[in-house]
Amino acid sequence: GKSGYDHFMLKEIYEQPQAVRQATRGRVSELDGTIELTAFPTAMRNELDRVQFVGCGTSYYATRYGAALLRERGVPAQAFVASEYGTERVPTEDGTVVVGVTQSGETADTLAALRDANGAGATTLAVTNVVGSSAARECDAAVYVRAGPEISVAATKSFASQQVTLATIASALADGTDRPFLESIRDLPAQVQRVLDRSNARDVAEELVGADAYFFIGRGYQHPVALEGALKMKEITYEHAEGFPAGELKHGPLALVTDRTPVVALVTGGDDLVEKTLSNVREVEARGAPVVAVTDDPDGVDGVADHVLEVPETHRYLVPVLTNVQLQLLAYWTANLLDRPIDKPRNLAKSVTVE
Ligand code: M6R
Repeated sequence: GKSGYDHFMLKEIYEQPQAVRQATRGRVSELDGTIELTAFPTAMRNELDRVQFVGCGTSYYATRYGAALLRERGVPAQAFVASEYGTERVPTEDGTVVVGVTQSGETADTLAALRDANGAGATTLAVTNVVGSSAARECDAAVYVRAGPEISVAATKSFASQQVTLATIASALADGTDRPFLESIRDLPAQVQRVLDRSNARDVAEELVGADAYFFIGRGYQHPVALEGALKMKEITYEHAEGFPAGELKHGPLALVTDRTPVVALVTGGDDLVEKTLSNVREVEARGAPVVAVTDDPDGVDGVADHVLEVPETHRYLVPVLTNVQLQLLAYWTANLLDRPIDKPRNLAKSVTVE
């Protein structure tokens, strides 16, 4: 059941402290600061030269985030929309691991990409929520994200669990001794809980509902979150929403910005990125757009943002987990105010089993 929540989506959003805790349980040793992903074979780790991620929708955005983390760790990594993977001849020389990220493990596009990769001789890894799923069975190995059952069509806790799992894989590949990261992982469930307890996303949704469109902007690790925030918004509210890298706005999308198009800006990521994103925020403000800043430094957006959705400070890899929770709540409350059938949006299915 929904355990007292109006929708499975809200219940699953509130299950995220537990979900992110489960994602690392037994995999991260706080004592000696090491990470062991038992399902991630040592052989695979030793022979790994490059990683290609495939996924769809929300899971694709998780791959964008995962690939960026691996690149920062010195591992060449690319993210592909699964349905596009087979349209290119992507070289899969020795040492290529193709990682399929899929909550259900049954998404036809993702399975097709993994089969292509298997056929081309690549090593394949499934990062999935469902034990015994097709992806888990057909890949050389599987890592489970352990989010627990997700009923709502909109993916929420599974995305948080994917983020944490991919961050843990990135750390494990880098020999797993990143103490600041491990400490932040330990604190993450409580921080997600804090966001849930204190979020004012419902009030912000009330202020903004009825807008012409919603734009989401972010840089670096926050770019996939901007895309995910927009997907969640369009999926459950049926309102127009788009995500952009913050710097791209001025290359075209800015023409769409008016006083009826709120811009949700992810303002995190160190001084340099923050400063640049804030200058993009000023550009939309000059066009009269209501600005929502999602930030771990509310003082830094003082006078620039009309609304602030605050997140606690954490390791830079994990800030996107926290900011995303605020965007989930913003989409949820907007859809709620519009009286949408949140758990079962029109035209969509939980598991998409056709290509
Ligand atoms: O089960 P999967 O993770 O493979 O599903 C992929 C997408 O269909 C899924 O994430 C979809 O985009 C969600 N409904 C988004 O909320």
